[in-house]
Amino acid sequence: MSIPQAENAYVCHPPPPFLGHFRSSCDAGAGFRRPPTHIEGHGFGTGGHLRPSPPPRCCAETDPTADLYPAAKNETYTIERALTPEPIASTYNNFYEYGTYKQISEAAQQLKTRPWEIEIDGLVEKPMTIAFDDLVRKIPLETRLYRHRCVEAWSMTVPWTGFPLKSLLAMANPLASAKYVRFETFMDPSMAPGQNDFLYPWPYIEGLTIKEAGHDLAFLVTGAYDKPMAKQFGAPIRLHLPWKYGFKSIKSIRKISFVEERPVGLWEALQSSEYGFWANVNPEVPHPRWSQAQERVIGTSDVIPTQLFNGYGAEVADLYAGLESENLYM
Ligand code: MTE
Repeated sequence: MSIPQAENAYVCHPPPPFLGHFRSSCDAGAGFRRPPTHIEGHGFGTGGHLRPSPPPRCCAETDPTADLYPAAKNETYTIERALTPEPIASTYNNFYEYGTYKQISEAAQQLKTRPWEIEIDGLVEKPMTIAFDDLVRKIPLETRLYRHRCVEAWSMTVPWTGFPLKSLLAMANPLASAKYVRFETFMDPSMAPGQNDFLYPWPYIEGLTIKEAGHDLAFLVTGAYDKPMAKQFGAPIRLHLPWKYGFKSIKSIRKISFVEERPVGLWEALQSSEYGFWANVNPEVPHPRWSQAQERVIGTSDVIPTQLFNGYGAEVADLYAGLESENLYM
């Protein structure tokens, strides 16, 4: 998962560390899972001339939670940037279960989102398995406009609807011994062809400290653009952590576990020298293979300076007091 540094290069992926003889798909002539050539002009600084694939079939009319949208806007989380138009945001996605390139919106329609149960377990007072359709009616939904910054140095602004992760914590009551929250997506190669790719340590996993999980900005997303979330965004429920690189925002969550040990995410397991546990946005700490100083705003020709904690420093900097010896920005 990387961005090319040169114009008109391909979006590319790290060479799997345990297969050192493979070259990255960025390497000229690597011939290794090269994305389709119809994706043009999305190299860093090339202006983002996207050609979105046809809009995906939408399920909003038949979704059993459609009546919950639109949800009231939380005015604390308004934003100075223009929203990314839905046809652009919903056709430029990272969802490796459906392909290692951005145009996965059609393929992601294979995801079956009902029935969908979420298991809450581990060091918690009330372990439970709850149907998504029940969970989503237990906690009031709200809409927040959040900046979304990928480690690949592109960004979007998306109107997400959902509820704060801290509300789920309050419902589950983690024990004092729980230090981290571990999130796991589904595992079903029959509806996610990418999970047949043995180069990735499926299922997708991510984690947070309990303190991070309890921060008001940590958001469990169930909808986008004022309707139930399209499958390619990670239906029926995903995380969004606007101050961290996008890979921390795990999609299609099946299991939430309260644990003592720090979880190792899919990207950290694959390439820990490039993708760490903390992954807080910082323009001054480059990725080992590219700068993080700027970001390409998807759907526009803008390249803008990246902000510390993606502009949410006033809210989240305190979470990291005393943790300066950690690799907080990778
Ligand atoms: N979650 C799952 N299950 N699978 C993935 O491949 N990709 C991550 C994250 N969550 C991913 C995932 C990455 S790298 C990013 S940048 C964001 O989802 C992309 O979210 P978006 O497609 O809504 O922009």
